[in-house]
Amino acid sequence: LVEVKLWAIDRQCFQTIMMRTGLIKHAEYMDFLKSVPSFQGLSEETLSKLADVMEETHYEDGEFIVRQGATGDTFFIISKGKVNVTQEDPANQETAHLRELGRGDWFGERALQGEDVRTANVVASDTVTCLVIDRDSFKHLISGLDDVSNKGYEDAELKA
Ligand code: CMP
Repeated sequence: LVEVKLWAIDRQCFQTIMMRTGLIKHAEYMDFLKSVPSFQGLSEETLSKLADVMEETHYEDGEFIVRQGATGDTFFIISKGKVNVTQEDPANQETAHLRELGRGDWFGERALQGEDVRTANVVASDTVTCLVIDRDSFKHLISGLDDVSNKGYEDAELKA
């Protein structure tokens, strides 16, 4: 009973647009990954595989991206905004601020090495976009990097 007007595009046109959009996204991810210092050692082929499997996720200011003590299966690269890494001291339940991270920084590798428990909170302090990589892809494509496997936090880590 209401008049409706629709725009339609045919299959061929739709598929072309979808493919182009995908190619543009892929190129954008490749450029970004190449700008991440820790990933300089990765081949073009590996970066391309990463760009294929990454999922873009968005968070609001104040939102917990990772919660200390939770189990985790994902690795994050920040493509937009800033996050705060905080850690609760089991002795007095006080929360310490450990670090601020921004575009090109990554986190979440700890739960993918050994125990699958998150060692800290990561909280968005801005509108944040992360590129998320699953455990299997992390293991095959990233875990071999020295920067990632030997990342030490001794400077800021709380003594349990
Ligand atoms: P994960 O334990 O999986 O989830 C929380 C993440 O915070 C952790 O991986 C690291 O990437 C990061 N993280 C842990 N401790 C520190 C620290 N002292 N300084 C900066 N980042 C940290």
